[in-house]
Amino acid sequence: MSDDPTPDQIMEVGLGFWASKTLLSAVEMELFTELARHPESGEALRDRLGLYIGGILEMANQRLYRFWGGLTEALRTGQLQNEAKSGEMPFFQALYADPARLKGFLAAMTGLSHGANLAIARQFPWHEHETFVDIGTAQGDLAVQIALANEHLTGVGFDLPEVAPIFEDYVEHNGVQERLRFAAGDFFADDLPKADVLVMGHILHDWSLDEKRKLISKAHEALPEEGALIVYETIIDDDRSKNAFGLLMSLNMLIETEHGFDYTAADCMGWMTDAGFSRTRAEPDRAGLNGHRREVAARARTPASGADCYARPGCTREHSRRPGVRLGLQEPSVSKGKP
Ligand SMILES: C[S@@+](CC[C@H](N)C(=O)[O-])C[C@H]1O[C@@H](n2cnc3c(N)ncnc32)[C@H](O)[C@@H]1O
Repeated sequence: MSDDPTPDQIMEVGLGFWASKTLLSAVEMELFTELARHPESGEALRDRLGLYIGGILEMANQRLYRFWGGLTEALRTGQLQNEAKSGEMPFFQALYADPARLKGFLAAMTGLSHGANLAIARQFPWHEHETFVDIGTAQGDLAVQIALANEHLTGVGFDLPEVAPIFEDYVEHNGVQERLRFAAGDFFADDLPKADVLVMGHILHDWSLDEKRKLISKAHEALPEEGALIVYETIIDDDRSKNAFGLLMSLNMLIETEHGFDYTAADCMGWMTDAGFSRTRAEPDRAGLNGHRREVAARARTPASGADCYARPGCTREHSRRPGVRLGLQEPSVSKGKP
């Protein structure tokens, strides 16, 4: 049987925005908000599962839909296409200046990551370790789920200072404040807190290759012997032929960030090895919590310290892209956004 794409499949991708825009408009018209009002099970379910992702969809409709109109230009020039292009205040700068909006956004991140967070909290061999730090913790759902599932652990949520009250509220709400604390810092400017295990969820794809490597090296420095680094996000399959969502996510990074891109598990494990980690592995998402997205986890350790890379399908190899196309690597960058 031929593996060539069928006309139907090509149309499905080419017109994929139809389904997307329908969902986004339903969110804009508060259809799901109304549905959630009665019967009561909608909100109860949302509270119980912490799965509200409307904030991300609202952002997709209000911002990304518009900016994706610049995709062709981004592919031709490599330039980002968001507010920065027209000189407006950068989205994340405005977001971090407004605590209420920031809280809504970070709660929406929880909705997106919750399934993977549960899987990591249950699947990783936490019994071999005592302490962990979640780098770029946002509301702190991963740290909370790890603490809830592993009573012997204590942990730290590391993020920018504006995030502290949002993290602390969430941790207290979940009753794990005795074992979790917040540490404020900038992961480029400051040393990472030391712990047995470091986790980076949806962090690396925001940054250039040099910045990715720098963060992985800083993690290596912060870990003890037999420590571990876990990286998870939308990982692209190694031959870059199956996980369309991971490739699309990389296009979104092209539109939204100066030099960010998604990557394969093989890429990630290579960077870990280069940073000094001696053992790496990638794992599929056994919990299957992310629908069609194939979850992958890679884990790395070294005699001197270790790393783990949990990831969801994302891009690029060190072979680069064609000139102007920012799907692969770019020259070193020192940009410091707040994705
Ligand atoms: C895309 S969110 C990921 C949140 C969470 N780890 C998850 O997977 O749902 C990126 C997080 O990194 C944090 N962040 C961005 N730049 C940072 C920096 N320079 N230092 C520390 N944290 C930063 C943001 O505040 C945000 O919480």
